[in-house]
Amino acid sequence: MSTLLTIDDLKRQARRRVPKMFFDYADSGSWTEATYRANEEDFAKIKLRQRVLVDMTNRSLESTMIGEKVSMPIALAPTGLTGMQHADGEILAAQAAEEFGVPFTLSTMSICSIEDVAAATKKPFWFQLYVMRDRDFVASLIDRAKDAGCSALVLTLDLQILGQRHKDLRNGLSTPPKFTPKHVWQVATRPRWLVGMMGTRRRTFRNIACHAKGVTDLSSLAVWTAEQFDPRLSWKDVAWIKERWGGKLILKGILDPDDARMAAEAGADAIVVSNHGGRQLDGAPSSISVLPRVVEAVGDRVEVHFDGGIRSGQDVLKALCLGAKGTFIGRPFLYGLGAGGKDGVKLTLDILRKELDTTLALCGKRDITEVGKSLLYD
Ligand SMILES: Cc1cc2nc3c(=O)[nH]c(=O)nc-3n(C[C@H](O)[C@H](O)[C@H](O)COP(=O)(O)O)c2cc1C
Repeated sequence: MSTLLTIDDLKRQARRRVPKMFFDYADSGSWTEATYRANEEDFAKIKLRQRVLVDMTNRSLESTMIGEKVSMPIALAPTGLTGMQHADGEILAAQAAEEFGVPFTLSTMSICSIEDVAAATKKPFWFQLYVMRDRDFVASLIDRAKDAGCSALVLTLDLQILGQRHKDLRNGLSTPPKFTPKHVWQVATRPRWLVGMMGTRRRTFRNIACHAKGVTDLSSLAVWTAEQFDPRLSWKDVAWIKERWGGKLILKGILDPDDARMAAEAGADAIVVSNHGGRQLDGAPSSISVLPRVVEAVGDRVEVHFDGGIRSGQDVLKALCLGAKGTFIGRPFLYGLGAGGKDGVKLTLDILRKELDTTLALCGKRDITEVGKSLLYD
């Protein structure tokens, strides 16, 4: 792992170790992938101000997100099928985040269940909720997250219907999974991955299987999942969920200042400026390009978090300078996981930490909580 120095190195290693259909599932956006690309490209357009001859000793990356202390303001974003990038992926990523002192967010569409992750970690993690048509199931998920001691509910708003991802369709990544010779070949040529998978029982959506009504096997699970994302989700549902949950609520998937204002009115503790990593509305602007407008719209009425396209500590710093209180990373930690399991996720976080720390210093700052627009060129 000593030659893996950047998130891009981890991505290359993950490509070698993870079967193509699952690697592509992470490395894809919807339709033309224009928004997916813009998320990364727009970061490069923002330039940092180099400062010299300021005291750069005793630097600190410590901050808070929704009032929780974090060793640096970078959380692991909720990602579906994480346990397919590496056996027991959600457990390993949660443990890595815990050791690093940053939040881990478990997706509704995870392979390891809420209970699996709770049993394998000591500190509370965050749970991401997708609202399904079956509201009894949604209520039971909320209750399970509470019972597991989750300290925040991250409610995703931008997936009422699914944006089409061509790679997934071409790869035949479907539910129920097809076992064509192509798929068998992909798996057989990734022996490390295969050995890991053979050593775990966790190979299906364990938050759902045997919890949702009528879901008893893989094929009933497939039918259920395809039908369940609720296109009628509304602000009324947000109020119901907030009430039922009763704890810290983060609303994820907001790009528009008007929606951001409504989220603040709805009483969210934080919002995540996000376009789902370019996986939903292709043609939407990059997250970083709209961040300043959203920050301006909500002022200090709600904490603003950010995700989409972060591939370095420099990117993290740019998002913070533009007003984000915290950031989330999706693909960077998935690449780390695919490349090297728990150590790979720790390496992801370590790479970002070092980059963030050095960049902070070279911009003439010592405390991450004191950065702002003055560190950027207009
Ligand atoms: C493979 C993959 C699966 C994802 N699954 C979910 C999910 O289950 N729930 C959710 O709210 N967001 C999901 N997202 C979006 C991420 O939470 C996050 O918004 C996005 O990855 C940020 O962009 P980045 O990957 O460029 O860091 C997923 C993203 C990826 C790449």
